[in-house]
Amino acid sequence: MIKSLQRKGGASAAEDRSQVQVCDVYKTYHVGEVDVPAVRGISLTIGSGEFLAIMGPSGSGKSTLMHILGCLDRCDRGQYLLEGADVTRMSKRELARLRNQKLGFVFQSFNLLSRTTVLDNVALPLTYAGVSRRERRRRAASLLDRVGLSDRSMHLSNQLSGGQQQRVAIARALVTEPVILFADEPTGNLDTRTGAEIMALLEELNRESGLTIVIVTHEPDIAECARRVIAVRDGKIASDRSSGSGVDAEPRDTVHVGT
Ligand SMILES: Nc1ncnc2c1ncn2[C@@H]1O[C@H](COP(=O)(O)OP(=O)(O)O)[C@@H](O)[C@H]1O
Ligand SMILES: [Mg+2]
Repeated sequence: MIKSLQRKGGASAAEDRSQVQVCDVYKTYHVGEVDVPAVRGISLTIGSGEFLAIMGPSGSGKSTLMHILGCLDRCDRGQYLLEGADVTRMSKRELARLRNQKLGFVFQSFNLLSRTTVLDNVALPLTYAGVSRRERRRRAASLLDRVGLSDRSMHLSNQLSGGQQQRVAIARALVTEPVILFADEPTGNLDTRTGAEIMALLEELNRESGLTIVIVTHEPDIAECARRVIAVRDGKIASDRSSGSGVDAEPRDTVHVGT
């Protein structure tokens, strides 16, 4: 569908289900005198409701790509439309607002406030969104219920297991109702079984709410949980395949943004 819309050209973001459209993006880090090219010409379209894994060995550029997609960092070169808006032209402040309103993040280390209750950890992002305390707590409780941790809401987060902490981090990422959830190695600190449970939760959230999910992982088993797997090598896309088709797809067409 995305392809056909793109072929016609001129499809507006409203009719098109593409949420993320990056075209030929590059990112090089400069460390002293040394240039470290991390992302080297990636083009990618992600549609609303996709569950996608970015997979590749350590150092292949996955996190750098995710930081660009999640507007945590800027590309040096290339184009990026997020829901039709040109991210490359936005100021730092506009990017921060965009992240707060539209994007959720989960990381390998759960990044919870350890001496704060689970409920308050989940409610925290709403403080910055100017939501009343009562409403913050109501929404946080509802998200905790969603991730199966209602009975832990008054515990301190450091009283939870790793898998439970990651569930709390997922609830916290979702409390602002983002349109895309980015997760960088979300199972990296978990044992295999707990990791599989976290992936099952993400799969359920994607299926039931249509939330777009982009996970980054170096583990093929984890990537297989996603419906589409993009393999990254040396800062480039090596393959892009969707489960169901069972075959490597051609790299998808990309929209020429800007003109
Ligand atoms: N902040 C940084 N400064 C300098 N080099 C970096 C930085 N972040 C990542 N790199 C380098 O960029 C390359 C890609 O890193 P990264 O995107 O973190 O890969 P991955 O997530 O696949 O392990 C690596 O060579 C890494 O050493
Ligand atoms: Mg990484």
